[in-house]
Amino acid sequence: ARARLTLDPAFTIGAVRRRLFGGFVEHLGRHIYDGIHEPGHPTAGPDGFRRDVVELVKQLGVSAIRYPGGNFVSGYQWEDGVGPAADRPRRLDLAWHSTETNQVGLHEFQTWLDLVGSELMLAVNLGTRGVPEALALLEYANVPTGTARAAQRAANGRAEPFGVRMWCLGNEMDGPWQLGRRDAEDYGKLAAMTANAMRQLDRDLELVVCGSSSRGMPTFGTWERVVLEHAYDEVDYISCHAYYEPRDGDYASFLASGVDMDAFIDAVVATADHVRAVKRADKRIDISFDEWNVWYASRWNAVEDTFPADHWPIAPRLLEDVYSVADAVTVGGLLISLLNHADRVTSASLAQLVNVIGPIMTEPGGPAWRQTTFFPFSLTSRLARGSALRVQLDADTVPTPAHGDVPVIAAAATFDEAGSLAVFLQNRHLTEPTTVTISVRGLAVTAVRAEGIWDDDMHAANTLANPERVGTRANPSATVEDGTVTITLPPVSWTAVSFS
Ligand code: AHR
Repeated sequence: ARARLTLDPAFTIGAVRRRLFGGFVEHLGRHIYDGIHEPGHPTAGPDGFRRDVVELVKQLGVSAIRYPGGNFVSGYQWEDGVGPAADRPRRLDLAWHSTETNQVGLHEFQTWLDLVGSELMLAVNLGTRGVPEALALLEYANVPTGTARAAQRAANGRAEPFGVRMWCLGNEMDGPWQLGRRDAEDYGKLAAMTANAMRQLDRDLELVVCGSSSRGMPTFGTWERVVLEHAYDEVDYISCHAYYEPRDGDYASFLASGVDMDAFIDAVVATADHVRAVKRADKRIDISFDEWNVWYASRWNAVEDTFPADHWPIAPRLLEDVYSVADAVTVGGLLISLLNHADRVTSASLAQLVNVIGPIMTEPGGPAWRQTTFFPFSLTSRLARGSALRVQLDADTVPTPAHGDVPVIAAAATFDEAGSLAVFLQNRHLTEPTTVTISVRGLAVTAVRAEGIWDDDMHAANTLANPERVGTRANPSATVEDGTVTITLPPVSWTAVSFS
């Protein structure tokens, strides 16, 4: 197959924010306990955090990290996680049918964030709680001194405020599975009240209101409109969540999941801009795509209701998907979609980070390793700088049952002031290579380097038994001549091309 791209550094979509490469850590399964936090592990520091995991998270290149959930947050009492660890209560986590020991809370998580060098994005519980508790958490986290909760924070070991800027107003409040689920009217009013109150305490916040929990929800579109009609003036972002998996062995559609993500983003932007038009507002609402990934959710749905009613384990193995090369190529395609919407998607969080649908896996007392999905994320986070460029794409197409005929490749490009250009390419063809020519107008590119992920076996994965089966590889076919780059992409592959 063949494809042709034309790039011009003058034609930009928008700045690529670091927040586009965010992550998500939920109190779920072995994410925190036996994932990032394992006192007694040979690499653990005195704080109990595994340093091998810290190193991998740094290598991954995640910016802001959303915490503590997810579905978990809708039943969470943040007060349970502060103060002397020995005094903290054990609680039932209804979202994941587990016991929460509260040994990691806000202070410990911030300690870990300082180790990995990431920013905190904090979610408040708008499921079982409301405005007073959100205000109490904000006072505890951000008021420097002179109030009871600021003093409590200092007594708990942190005199300096956490200074959290980015806050999520609940999680997936449209979902029937969510504790305290609301309809759009009720949630819109609650979110607006909460946001308004929080801003009275701290004007500098960036607030994310919940959009639909997926594009497939029956109320999708109406939910966004109604919620924003109530909360438009009070918030900065609306969230999108999307998970993809191959259905009935249909890999052609799965690899093209970015087409669905594109349509999702366009629909939410259109809805937000509709509300803006009706309100005659100057302000624009951006998207926080704060849960996205490949997730074999159908496997979870099949076992979810089979747990014995009286069984509430601590840190069980939940949602521990093992990712293949095809999954990584799909994740690469989703990153391309996010970059191509850099003007409106200004924050995003890969869901999740460690063990739970994570790019990083751990074994208690044993090693930590990188899943296949680690590689497209880390390369994109490292190479995507400056602004996303408008990519003019002229490509053969491949048929897909779910999305119709789609371009055989997906492509995004970024360019920064210092002159560094990067192009990200996904070959969706299941069996054939695709030769791509990239014409770079107005840029004197000389050397080109191409690195990515593909394999003769698209189901190959990294596991405890074989943690380095799959990694990135160089593509030596890339050449450059007279401002035109030519590269041949293997079938089912994702590649980052950079220049010097
Ligand atoms: O990431 C797993 C779960 O998916 C999150 O807890 C929830 O927000 C979503 O439904």
